[in-house]
Amino acid sequence: MNMLNIKILNIARISWLGILIIISFSYKGNAPEDITLKERFKDHFLIGSAINRHLFSDEDNLELAIVKKHFNTITAENEMKWGPIHPKPDEYNFEPADIIADFGKKNNMLIIGHTLIWHNQTPKWVFENKEGNPADRETLLKRMKEHIQKVVGRYKENVHGWDVVNEALDEDGKLRQSSWMKIVGEDYIAKAFQFAHEADPEAELYYNDFSLENKPKREGAIKIVKNLQSQGIKIDAVGLQGHYKMDWPTPAQLDSTIKEFAALGIKVMITELDIDVLPYKDISAEVTLNMEMQEKYNPYKDGLPDSVQVSLAQRYKDLFEVFVENKNSVDRVTFWGVTDKDSWLNYWPVRGRKNYPLLFDRNGKPKQAFDAVVKTVEIN
Ligand code: G3I
Repeated sequence: MNMLNIKILNIARISWLGILIIISFSYKGNAPEDITLKERFKDHFLIGSAINRHLFSDEDNLELAIVKKHFNTITAENEMKWGPIHPKPDEYNFEPADIIADFGKKNNMLIIGHTLIWHNQTPKWVFENKEGNPADRETLLKRMKEHIQKVVGRYKENVHGWDVVNEALDEDGKLRQSSWMKIVGEDYIAKAFQFAHEADPEAELYYNDFSLENKPKREGAIKIVKNLQSQGIKIDAVGLQGHYKMDWPTPAQLDSTIKEFAALGIKVMITELDIDVLPYKDISAEVTLNMEMQEKYNPYKDGLPDSVQVSLAQRYKDLFEVFVENKNSVDRVTFWGVTDKDSWLNYWPVRGRKNYPLLFDRNGKPKQAFDAVVKTVEIN
């Protein structure tokens, strides 16, 4: 080989090396395998997800593997709610909840109990007497106490904290006219917290709701917290559910919400985080969607376009920057589901749409949003 050929070969080698370096530096795809959310946020807050019984029958165990790798806290998505766990007056169905609690315990995760008192997913019999008329206050309080004692008592060793009362407020900040409210009156909230504390004095107790980033509702929640505190009743945190949109809430709104609750001397938890990327005009009232509507309101049925993927990543980044900045007040961030495949947003407000609200795609691969989230904290 003459000198000229050797030179050409060297130039080619150097050029290839250059191209490889450029490729590796411009690589913006999946985060390296060894990055885990729980490790990344270990100095900031606990990080978790809701899981449900169906994940345990998936053959590939895709979601559970992600949960073990990335999360240090879990919440039962449905299995500890009144309907599933206490379907009839004398019948408790603990098995699905036990499966979730055992999984959490085995994997050293902090388990959150969701939820004791809610207007939704609570069987009709709870609020009725034998004749099918509304039960009286005493009966309902007795049922509440028994239910709380039984459920909290069973998971005393395992559940770290309970969403004691869920969604008690209307958007205007007034107490929702639920059956709890109508039959017991507004002290049903205080009673629920008292019963929960009696059943497990060690457990943390939370008030959990959505849209608290909006002022009127937030003021309603602040009233609830202050009311409990003024009676000396234990409340440890407020849960901001975090069912967010692409344009709501603003980072500034979120920041001031966290600060206002923290100023009450309680912790703040983001308890059900996801970001809805689909158009959200209220179409829940439509019984059947015609073809045109289906196209319009289910725009990403063949996959999420790159541009939306990028906006979602940016949106997650903006929100996580607020959580990180408020790490002294934010104790936990929990996603409502593991992968896009198992999110409730594929079924609500319309069944069968394809949504993309979480950090892991339908194959369990971390999305760009995952990369954006982990980049919100520096690594040493
Ligand atoms: O388990 C039954 C099954 O036996 C039955 O055959 C089937 C028929 O539809 O329904 C199944 O129950 C469904 C349940 O999820 C379990 O998959 C219910 O219909 C369905 O309504 C229920 O939805 C849950 C919803 O709460 C109920 O309001 C969602 O999975 C759950 O993600 C959602 O979670 C709530 C939080 O608890 C509170 N904050 C809002 C959040 C989102 O709505």
